[in-house]
Amino acid sequence: MKDLQNIKQRFGIIGNHEGLNRAIDIAVQVAPTDLSVLITGESGTGKEIFPQVIHNYSTRKHGQYIAVNCGAIPEGTIDSELFGHEKGSFTGATESRKGYFEVADGGTIFLDEVAELPLSTQVRLLRVLETGEFIRVGSSRVLKTNVRVIAASNVDVPRAIENNKFREDLFYRLNTVPIRIPALRERGEDIFLLFRKFSVDFAEKYRMPAIRLDSESKNALLNYSWPGNVRQLKNITEQISIIESEREISASKLQGYLPEYGSAKLPALIRKDDDKSFSSEREILYKILFDMKSDMNDLKKLVFDLLRRGDIDVSFQETNSGVIKNLFREADKETNITTRADNTSVDFVPTPSRNDIQDTEEIIEESLSLSDNEVEMIKKALGKYNGKRKMAAKELGISERTLYRKIKEYEIEM
Ligand SMILES: Nc1ncnc2c1ncn2[C@@H]1O[C@H](COP(=O)(O)OP(=O)(O)OP(=O)(O)O)[C@@H](O)[C@H]1O
Ligand SMILES: [Mg+2]
Repeated sequence: MKDLQNIKQRFGIIGNHEGLNRAIDIAVQVAPTDLSVLITGESGTGKEIFPQVIHNYSTRKHGQYIAVNCGAIPEGTIDSELFGHEKGSFTGATESRKGYFEVADGGTIFLDEVAELPLSTQVRLLRVLETGEFIRVGSSRVLKTNVRVIAASNVDVPRAIENNKFREDLFYRLNTVPIRIPALRERGEDIFLLFRKFSVDFAEKYRMPAIRLDSESKNALLNYSWPGNVRQLKNITEQISIIESEREISASKLQGYLPEYGSAKLPALIRKDDDKSFSSEREILYKILFDMKSDMNDLKKLVFDLLRRGDIDVSFQETNSGVIKNLFREADKETNITTRADNTSVDFVPTPSRNDIQDTEEIIEESLSLSDNEVEMIKKALGKYNGKRKMAAKELGISERTLYRKIKEYEIEM
C-alpha cells in the first residue's frame, strides 16, 4: 500500500477510491511485461496519466515515450505520421520521414482516442502489434520495430465494433489487459480531496486565498452527476476561484456552476457542455482577463509612483488631470494602498472587485453564443444538403472529418 501512495504522489494522482487504486495496481503489475493495455473510462476521468505510469515502471523507461492523439491527426496523414513515408510518396513528401513506430523502437507509444483511427490504419496497427512489422507509406520494404502499445478510449469500443467503425480483432489484441478508470460520480468522498487540491493549486496560481465549501455545498458536490468528471471539477474550481469574491462557497452559488444540477447522479450521458475545446477557450479567456488585470495594476502602480516622485512635469499633470483623478479614485476604491514608513514607495494590493466579474460574464456570454452559432450553421448546412456531410463540409469550408467531429461534439442529431 505504501507503494501505491508513492506512485500517486509521483504522478499527482489524487484519491483513494478502490476502483482507482485497482487501476493503478494493474498498471504497475502489467508495466514490466510487453502486453498491450487498453484504458477505458469516460471523458475527463484521468486516463492520460496511466500510460506514463506503465512506461515509467517498465524496462523501456529509458526508451522513447510518444503520445499520439489519434483523433487530432487528419485522416490523410495519419498513416504517414505513425509509420513514416518515402520521398515522393504523396504530394508534399519532399523528404522521407520516420514514423512514430520507427522512432519509438524500444519504447512505448500511447494511442489516445484509438477508436478514431480510420479502418485502413487499424489494419496496419494490427500487423505491427502481431508481428512487429510495418511498411512506410509509399514503400514496399518491410521494417521491424519493437514498440509497446498502450491505447485509450472514452467511447464504447464494443459499440464501435457493432457499427463497423472498429475492427474486432484489433480490439482483442489491444485489450490484452483492460484498465477501467471509474467515473468521478462513483468515487464518493474522493471528490473533496480533488476539490481541495484544485482550489489550493488555483489559489497559488492566481495568488488569492483558496475557496472553501460549506457543508451544504459539499453535499451538492457529492450529489452531482459530473458528466465531465475530474476535468469538469477542475474547470469549475478554477472558474469559482476567479469569479467569486466570497471565498466560502454556498450551495446556491455552487449550483450556478453545475449544468443541469437537478439531474443528479443519473448514469452519465456525456454532455458536451463541458466539451474540452470549449472549456479550454473559457480557460484562455479567464487567463487573458486575469493577466490584463495584473498589467493594469502594474501600470497604475507605475503611474502612481511617478506622480508621487514628482518626475512628471506640471503641464503633463494639468492636461491629464481628469484621467489622473479617475485613476486615483479607482485605485483608492479597488486597492489597499499602504504607504511605507519612510514614505518612499507605495504598494498596491489588488482585491477582486465586482466590476471585474461583470466584464468576465459578458465575455463568456459572447463565446457561448459563438458555439451556438456554430451549431446553427452546421445544422443549416446539413439541412441544405439533406444530411450529406461531404457537401455540408464544403459549404462550411471545413474538412469532412472536422465536421464529423463537431457533429459528435455538439451531439447534433441528423
Ligand atoms: N485522480 C486525479 N488526480 C488529480 N488530477 C486528476 C485526476 N484525474 C484526472 N485529473 C486531471 O483531470 C484532467 C483530465 O484528465 P485527462 O486529460 O487524463 O482525462 P481523459 O480521461 O484523458 O479524458 P478524455 O477522454 O476526454 O481525453 C487533467 O487535468 C488531469 O490532470
Ligand atoms: Mg484524454
